[in-house]
Amino acid sequence: MIDLKVKIGTLRLKNPVLLASGTCGYGKELSDFLDVSMLGGIVVKGISLEPRKGNPPPRICETPCGLLNSIGLENVGVERFIREKLPWLRDKGVTVIVNCLGNSIDEYKELSGRLGNVDGIHALEINISCPNVKKGGALFGTDPELTFKVTKAVREETDLPIIIKLSPNVTDICEIARACQEGGATAVSLINTLLGMAIDIERKRPFLGNIFGGLSGPAIKPVALRMVWQVARCVDIPVIGIGGITSFKDAIEFFMAGATAIQVGTATLIDPTSSEKILSGIIDFMKENNYLKIADMKIVD
Ligand SMILES: Cc1cc2nc3c(=O)[nH]c(=O)nc-3n(C[C@H](O)[C@H](O)[C@H](O)COP(=O)(O)O)c2cc1C
Repeated sequence: MIDLKVKIGTLRLKNPVLLASGTCGYGKELSDFLDVSMLGGIVVKGISLEPRKGNPPPRICETPCGLLNSIGLENVGVERFIREKLPWLRDKGVTVIVNCLGNSIDEYKELSGRLGNVDGIHALEINISCPNVKKGGALFGTDPELTFKVTKAVREETDLPIIIKLSPNVTDICEIARACQEGGATAVSLINTLLGMAIDIERKRPFLGNIFGGLSGPAIKPVALRMVWQVARCVDIPVIGIGGITSFKDAIEFFMAGATAIQVGTATLIDPTSSEKILSGIIDFMKENNYLKIADMKIVD
């Protein structure tokens, strides 16, 4: 019998397949296509203390094997999330991880305090890595000292498992991951999008309203996999792999690199049932290859 359950601190997931923040709304948006409760969980769209409008359009641009987005963290704000979005997820019995964003340590603290005691929230994913906002995001995730301070501040504010989401836009990913561990993170998740741009040559101007955007999708998978491999070998906390996972084979590569769980992002925008297919592919692969649990697939070096 294979055991798909994974543990991330006190967070128990029935299987290792999660939906990535920003690519699945607040869950209900996918309900015509997918039973979200059969997945390991959902990481909801990044939430801030106040609602945000996001960046000017255009905010999405397709590139070879990838997607550039500059949504700019548009969201309904924490109070509306708790009041209007969370009850549906709670009723369905979905494991909910809330992606949090702030412009200052105090904002991260206040937000995690507000979310900490709400029924139906199982963990927080702290987004210190979004490249689309002018203040906050990128700054925290690229500086080990600030990463440590944000992690510690959130840790002091809540007993929920905290997952720090890392940016790939750094020179030394291990330095940042170690800062998370020292600050008391339960786990790290990586990667967020890679900073990129596209130019509309007919109009002779950057394609995205925000000029720069975050690149996601299959194009970034080799980078994500390399970083997951590195981080899984430099910290002792669980690593959640994200980046270009579109098939069960991609997911298996991440488990072999050392990921405890994975998140499916852009693939859901292409096929809303991708996560379900990835999960069943993982099960078949484990059966065929006599793997009893996810951790058995890690390459021991
Ligand atoms: C349209 C869009 C919106 C996103 N919004 C968020 C967000 O709010 N918070 C966050 O941490 N990551 C956000 N991300 C990043 C994804 O969660 C994920 O880390 C990234 O896309 C890489 O995974 P993928 O290649 O499977 O999409 C967003 C990505 C996309 C494409």
